[in-house]
Amino acid sequence: MTLATASHDDLDGLVTLLRACVADGASVGWVATPSPADARAFWRGCLAEQGAGRRRVVVARDGDRVVGTGQLIPAPLPNGRHRAEIAKLLVAPQARRRGIARAVMTALEDAARDDGRRLLILDTASAAAARLYEVTGWTRLGDVPGYALDTRGVAEPTTIFFKQLRDA
Ligand SMILES: CC(C)(COP(=O)(O)OP(=O)(O)OC[C@H]1O[C@@H](n2cnc3c(N)ncnc32)[C@H](O)[C@@H]1OP(=O)(O)O)[C@@H](O)C(=O)NCCC(=O)NCCS
Repeated sequence: MTLATASHDDLDGLVTLLRACVADGASVGWVATPSPADARAFWRGCLAEQGAGRRRVVVARDGDRVVGTGQLIPAPLPNGRHRAEIAKLLVAPQARRRGIARAVMTALEDAARDDGRRLLILDTASAAAARLYEVTGWTRLGDVPGYALDTRGVAEPTTIFFKQLRDA
C-alpha cells in the first residue's frame, strides 16, 4: 500500500471507492449511492479545492487500485489558521482492518503539521470510525442529535472529536 496526494489520475478509483462505501452503508454525505456522474462531480470539486490550496486529498493505493482516502480542510479565516477539519475518510469494504485508515490519518496529521495546523476536528456517525479515533488519540467531545439523514430519511446523531497535535 502506498500513500499519495490525490491527482486527476485517481478520479475513477475515488468514484468507485465512494460508491462502494455508500452502498455498504457509510454515512458520509449521501442517503443513497451517488451516480457515477455525481460522484465524479464531487471528487472533481475536491481536486479543484486542492488545486486552490483549500484542501488536501490523500489516497491509499494498492497497486493501481484506490483502496482508501481522507481529506484535510484547513479553516479558511485568519483566526482559524491553526485549525483544520478531517473529512471523507473512506476505506474500500474489502480492504478494511489492514491499517489503511490509520495510515491515511497519520498522513493527514503530518500534512496538518506541515501547514501549521495543530487543532483538528471531525465528526462521525460510524462506530468503527469512532473506535479508530479513540485508539489514535482523539478526544470525544459529544453527540449532536439528529445531525444527518440515514437511508430511511431518519435524522441520526453524529459524534464530534478533536485532537491537538504534538510535534512529530
Ligand atoms: C472507519 C474506516 C475508515 C476504518 O478503516 P480501516 O482501514 O478498516 O481501519 P484500520 O484498519 O486502520 O483500523 C485501525 C483501528 O481502528 C479500529 N477499528 C477500525 N474498524 C473497526 C471496526 N469495524 N470495529 C472496531 N474497531 C475498528 C481498530 O482499533 C483498528 O485497529 P485493529 O484492526 O488493530 O484492531 C472504514 O471502516 C470505513 O471506510 N467505513 C465507512 C466510511 C466511514 O464511515 N468513514 C468514517 C467517516 S468519519
